[in-house]
Order: sequence, then structure tokens, then C-alpha cells
Amino acid sequence: MSSPIDFNSKTILITGGAGFIGSRLAHYFQRNYPKARVIVFDCFRSGETFPHGNLVSFGHYKNLLGFSGEVICGSINRSEDLARLHDYRFDYIFHQAAISDTRVYNQEIVIQTNVNAFADILALAKKDRATVVYASSAATYGSQPSPQTIGKERPENPYGYSKYAMDQLANRFSRDNPDLSVTGLRYFNAYGAGEFYKAKTASMVLQLGHQILSGTAPRLFEHSDKIMRDFVYIDDVIQANIKACQPKKTGVYNVGTGIARSFQDIADILQRELGTDLGTDYFPNPYTGYQMHTQADISLTQRYLDYQPEFTLEKGIKAYLPEIKRLFTEENNEPV
Ligand SMILES: NC(=O)c1ccc[n+]([C@@H]2O[C@H](COP(=O)([O-])OP(=O)(O)OC[C@H]3O[C@@H](n4cnc5c(N)ncnc54)[C@H](O)[C@@H]3O)[C@@H](O)[C@H]2O)c1
Repeated sequence: MSSPIDFNSKTILITGGAGFIGSRLAHYFQRNYPKARVIVFDCFRSGETFPHGNLVSFGHYKNLLGFSGEVICGSINRSEDLARLHDYRFDYIFHQAAISDTRVYNQEIVIQTNVNAFADILALAKKDRATVVYASSAATYGSQPSPQTIGKERPENPYGYSKYAMDQLANRFSRDNPDLSVTGLRYFNAYGAGEFYKAKTASMVLQLGHQILSGTAPRLFEHSDKIMRDFVYIDDVIQANIKACQPKKTGVYNVGTGIARSFQDIADILQRELGTDLGTDYFPNPYTGYQMHTQADISLTQRYLDYQPEFTLEKGIKAYLPEIKRLFTEENNEPV
């Protein structure tokens, strides 16, 4: 195992740094490497929505409360905004900015934001000789059978395709620039502090937690005991990002626990932890072609990144619960 990187004195760019995972990275560096220069670049939320009603971007200033690094409001889709990043010389770039909502079907905006803008981020990395860690996704696999394995992708929506195209772009870039490190992380279903402002696209851990706290039975699709996902706690996501910064980690890696759990498990664990017995309110699943089972094959991530998931679903929910409760009382359960 290589010795940990000292990020103090490094200049770190976090795109999408006002979002869920990006903001946790920003806080992580501030807490552990106070001498690092951390720059958050995010377009934040404007109130603009897509036709299905969800916000175009979820970045929220409250995710950055307590963060004292630099914050730049800008879009990765606008060259004049990206030009502001040329004033720096980055050592590390964590590229989280994206349309993260898997139900956006406007292909033009998804491919522009997730793929074309990534090419510009890679050009920036090339100029600065920066190490890049970027967010890919389990959505690249579509409904491929579990365990989902690198090399067996079949995306089934524009979002999943965009992440797959990012991986291919990164792969070509790495071939042309073998001395630079570009690592893609295929997050499975991440949950934890910082996701509240994603509203309806936040994890079911948070949504069910708030339903239970409001005294109503958790609402789940029928047969939710058989709908399985690989739920990964934010601290393990951060662990993967940090380990991906080690030299020569170029490639794409799954980031999950390697274990599939059901949505019913989440509701049951929450009720156990909260001491409630509200039962479950089942309703028919309105989606056709709904993914029934994900489970990350993390063998390559373990082997090459030395990644070891530390949070079972039970442990992650327990660690997250104080924040779920705080949001419920302080934010009045309204992510505006
Ligand atoms: N959370 C998960 O479970 C999960 C799973 C797989 C992949 N991912 C990927 O991880 C990354 C982070 O996801 P997240 O859950 O933190 O989502 P998020 O929506 O909270 O974060 C994305 C951030 O990017 C910003 N952004 C969007 N468009 C932008 C633009 N044009 N210019 C600048 N900033 C822009 C948003 O304002 C937001 O703050 C995304 O790339 C997402 O696709 C997340």
C-alpha cells in the first residue's frame, strides 16, 4: 500500500462542489489538509427546472456552510466561465459537476453537460498536468445482471450513456497522455450528509427517514423486499476519491459495498433505529423496465485502489441519522 498523499500545499479544484459529493470532498480537504487551496466551481441552482419538474442543477450554498475555500459560480458549459480556472495551476481535479438526475431525457443538454464539458476539464488538466478523478456511474450498466462488472456496460438512458461516453473519452485521453492520471469512479447508490438539496433525487435513506420522522408509514413500491441496490455511504465514496489520487490509478472503478440490499431493508433499519412500528405503505411501481438488482463488483477497486468499504447499510444509516433528524427539524423538510 502506498503512503497517503499529503494534500497540504496542493491546489485542488472541485467541480460540482456545491452538490452532494463535491461539497463533502471540499469539507474533507479543509478538515484534513488545512493548508490545501481548495476551489469549488459550481453553477449552483437558479430555480430553472426541467419539464419533469426537477431543478436543472442542485448546487446549494448551504452545502458549503463552514467551508472557507474559494467558490466560483460558473457553468462547465460556458467557456468564459471555465476561462476563470486558467488563473490557477491545479494539482488535483475532482470532477463532480454534471446533470446528476437520471430522469433527464433531453439528450442535448445531458451530453453537452456531462460529456462535452468533460473534454474541456481534461484539457485544463492537461495544461496543468493535474491528476483527475471524475464521477462516472453505475447507470453505465443499465440492467446488466449483478454483479455489475467493468467492461459489461449497456446504458439505458441518456444519463447512463453520457457517463459511459465520459469513460471512453477518459480512456482515449489516457492513451494520448500516458503520463497523466485520469480515474473514473462508478458510484452506485450514494447516500449521506449533503444530499438533502437534491430533493426528489436524494437517496431513499433520507426520503424514508423523513417520512418516518413525520409519523407516516414509509412509502415503497410493491415487492420492495426484492428490489435491490448497492447503497454506498458517503464516507466510502470519499475514501475511493482519495485513493484514486495515488499515482498510476488510471482506469474506471466501481464504488459500492459489493453487497445488494433491498429498499425494504432501508425502511426496516430506519424504523428499528427510530423506534417506530409504522408498517409500510406499498404502491404499484409506475416504471416499466425498472432496474431490480444492482451490486457492484468491487474486486478491481479493492485490488488496484486498495478500497475497502467500511459502512454496511446498518452502520451508514446509524451514522447518518443525526443529520437526517437535524434536517427534519431545522430545514422543515423543505429543500428549497
Ligand atoms: N449520488 C449518487 O448516488 C451518484 C451515483 C452515480 C454517479 N453520481 C455522479 O456523481 C457526481 C456528483 O453527484 P451528486 O450526487 O453529488 O449530485 P449533485 O447534483 O448534488 O451534484 C452535482 C453538482 O454539479 C453542479 N452542476 C450541474 N451542472 C453544472 C454545470 N453546468 N456547471 C457547473 N456545475 C454544475 C450542480 O449544481 C451540483 O452542485 C455527478 O457527476 C453524478 O452524476 C452520483
